[in-house]
This record gives sequence, structure tokens and C-alpha cells, in this order.
Amino acid sequence: MLKSGKDEIKADRSCLPNHVGIIMDGNGRWAKKRGLPRTAGHAVGVKVFKKIVFYAKDMGLKNLTVYAFSAENWKRPEREINRIMQLLDQMLDEALDDFMNQKVRIRFLGDRSRLGQKLLEKMELVTNLTAQFSDTTLYIALNYGGRQEIVSAARKIALDLKNGLITEDDITEENFGKYLYYDDLESVDLIIRPSGEQRLSNFLLWQAAYAEFWYSDVLWPDFTPGHLEQAIYDYQLRNRRFGGI
Ligand code: FPP
Repeated sequence: MLKSGKDEIKADRSCLPNHVGIIMDGNGRWAKKRGLPRTAGHAVGVKVFKKIVFYAKDMGLKNLTVYAFSAENWKRPEREINRIMQLLDQMLDEALDDFMNQKVRIRFLGDRSRLGQKLLEKMELVTNLTAQFSDTTLYIALNYGGRQEIVSAARKIALDLKNGLITEDDITEENFGKYLYYDDLESVDLIIRPSGEQRLSNFLLWQAAYAEFWYSDVLWPDFTPGHLEQAIYDYQLRNRRFGGI
């Protein structure tokens, strides 16, 4: 364990998880506790998101995936959905310079078919402008569902099989991964979920096969870099056996 001046817990930078996933949960409850509309929680959630992304980059994390909007989140009231999309749009405008300066590569993970044209264009722009960076990649899961990702891969495989581009024997674990949204998105090592919930909620199902989980009662708007340090510190104490002994 490394200790900072204030004796706070610091994770060991020499053995960081390669890929961390965060389910940014609890914005609505955070707002409700304060008598505010749920959307006020999302607005604070975006600020925390930015702080955590740049902190993760400073730590030296290679891959970070955040769950911004799930394929199931369309069940929410239209007003709330619109506000989340607007916050994302604004965040991309406001933080683009910082992402560029900090050399963070941004990629979007999910089904794009239901997203608005204007947002899609911005996503494309941000992806292209940051594509050259390789130290830290931020995957923003948007209209994402793990099952949907696997079904979409199965469809692409069926098509390749039908067109004679592959044979049944080509369908291996390794090749299957190449048909997912990103062929080079690596397995997730650690999934962090604040807000007291202890479930995966369709997040990175394929990539999470051997992920370690870290839960906390803290709500996302109250999540701090100290929580990230703690989660990674706890992860570093675990003994990962990947099915071995
Ligand atoms: C979870 O809180 C949050 C979401 C479903 C999506 C919105 C996430 C943010 C605004 C954070 C940063 C996002 C962007 C745009 C990059 P919840 O609404 O499920 O909270 P609850 O469980 O307390 O109701």
C-alpha cells in the first residue's frame, strides 16, 4: 500500500487493473434526498464523471468504461432521457479540449440506431479527434446492453457464415470477441458500482467473465477519487485465479 501525505489509501500504480468499468449509479436517489428533480442528480453526476476520468488518466489507468445510458434506460420518462442526452452533448462540447490536452482517447460503445443525428455527429467528431491517443481510452457506454452486443455479434457471424467467409470451426472464443462492438476492447478486470446495488445490469457481459466487483453505498454524485483509490486498492488485495487454484 502506498500512503499519501494525509495517510489516505492509495492504490499501487505498478499493478493497476488494465480495464476498469464503472456503473455510475445513484444520481436519482442523491437528488431525491435533497428534494431536487432527478435530473439535478444527473447534472452533478456528469461533473463527477469528468473528475473521475481525469483522475483515472493521472493514475495511469489504460482503459475505463463508464455506463452512461443502458439499452433499458429508454423506459424512463422522456424528459429525463432528453436531459441525460443533453448533458452528454454539453459535456462533449465542454470537455473536448481537456480530453485532447490530457490525451484521452474516447470511444462510444452501444447501439447507435436510436440516437439523434446531431449527437451522433458529435460522437463521431470526438472519436476521430481523440483516435490518435493510446495511453488511456475512455469507453462511454451509451444505449449499451451486454446481451444486445452479444446478439449483434451472433448476427454478424451468421452473415459471414452464410456468405462463406468463415466456417463453423472459425467460431472460437477469440474470434467471437472480434465481432463485438470493438474487436480490441479487452476483458474488464474490475467493475465498480456505487449506490448499494449489487448487480451487473447488462453491463459488459462478455468482457466481465472474470471481473472482480467492488460495491459501495456511496451515491455516484458523492463518489470521489478516494473511492476509486479504495476500489483499486481492494482489487489489488484479491487473489484472481481465473478458474485455476
Ligand atoms: C444512474 O443514476 C445514472 C444514469 C442512468 C445515467 C446518467 C449518468 C450520468 C448523467 C453520469 C455521467 C454521464 C455522462 C453523460 C457521461 P440513476 O438515475 O439510475 O439513479 P437512481 O438509481 O438513484 O435512480
